[in-house]
Amino acid sequence: MLGTQTSWQKPAGNNYVTITTAHSTTDETDSNSQSPLLDIRDLKVHFPVTEGFIIQRQVGVIKAVDGVNLSVNPGETLGLVGESGSGKTTIGRAILKLENATEGQILLNGEDITKSTGNRLRDVRRQLGMVFQDPFGSLNPRMSAGNLVGEPLKIHGLTTTKSEYKRRVAELLKIVGLNSMMAGRYPHEFSGGQRQRIGVARALAAKPDVMVLDEPVSALDVSIQAQVINLIKDLQTEFGLAYIFIAHDLSVVRNISDRVAVMYLGKIVEIGSRDDIYNHPKHAYTRALLSAVPTANPDLERSRERIVLEGDIPSPLNPPSGCVFRPRCPKPTEDCRDGKIEMGLIEINPGHFVDKCCVNCG
Ligand SMILES: Nc1ncnc2c1ncn2[C@@H]1O[C@H](COP(=O)(O)OP(=O)(O)O)[C@@H](O)[C@H]1O
Ligand code: SF4
Ligand SMILES: [Mg+2]
Repeated sequence: MLGTQTSWQKPAGNNYVTITTAHSTTDETDSNSQSPLLDIRDLKVHFPVTEGFIIQRQVGVIKAVDGVNLSVNPGETLGLVGESGSGKTTIGRAILKLENATEGQILLNGEDITKSTGNRLRDVRRQLGMVFQDPFGSLNPRMSAGNLVGEPLKIHGLTTTKSEYKRRVAELLKIVGLNSMMAGRYPHEFSGGQRQRIGVARALAAKPDVMVLDEPVSALDVSIQAQVINLIKDLQTEFGLAYIFIAHDLSVVRNISDRVAVMYLGKIVEIGSRDDIYNHPKHAYTRALLSAVPTANPDLERSRERIVLEGDIPSPLNPPSGCVFRPRCPKPTEDCRDGKIEMGLIEINPGHFVDKCCVNCG
């Protein structure tokens, strides 16, 4: 059974420090020499938009993910943040092959899984787990908790006898803090937090190396969020899992992540260690997101500069030219307005990358 020594609270504050030094001009997004467990290279996921009833013709394309580079090391948590519609879920779904990559590679232990099919795809999927935002919608209401948790064991042939299967299901329920006596109950008989625990147990069943956690606590009450976050952290310690933790709540991401990637309109605009992103943010968008995070310290809270983002994220069907953030940027320069800005990530400190455009934004 897992320990409960880890506790989680909303963080106390964020201090912004401006840095201006650019050390290198590489386009890689991970300066770590360790070979990554998961390595996403120039990933594009585009959805064609069609028109017509009998004869369909393509009239546009939604660039949900448009040239993303990310890597995750064993046992690491990469936080992925950005407003709704920025493409976070699509990246997660592409990793699980629930969406097809239009271009690019997703290397898992060095193997490009975008090409995997048949039995190989099944083996690849065993190494990956996903927890979804809506614990109710993502669990089949007609399956009992035991069957939901046990289904991956059957799909991947991971138990040989009925008694072994039952023992493993009971073990998984226990790992996530549920009583094995609950195995016969159905999703509607559980609370929201308990349902998400079933989702975590199901994702964990096939002993994955990497788990994509897509807004796993967003639909839960704040009091329950802390329990589920602590469970997720404990599981990582116990099983050495690597996580991609997707969220729009930056205080939750700060608590759990080793590194953080900031996404806007299908692109990563800044990525770095938790300290880089929360204490030395460079991109105008990262600064705006962080300025909206309330602090528990009343003095800091009073002096907190709030950068209001006007309007909504633009449609990926018709993204702005040049810098995608330009229409909402609080301080665009003349060059930004003229579209003379060169885009692409640049390393400004070891492991801290920001869009070339915004190296001197702050
Ligand atoms: N299957 C799909 N078909 C068409 N557009 C999609 C599809 N899935 C996502 N999108 C669009 O891609 C963009 C990114 O969506 P999503 O990945 O869900 O963002 P996020 O998780 O950051 O909120 C949105 O504009 C969304 O409407
Ligand atoms: S490039 Fe210009 S418009 Fe884009 S985020 Fe930086 S300052 Fe703002
Ligand atoms: Mg989403």
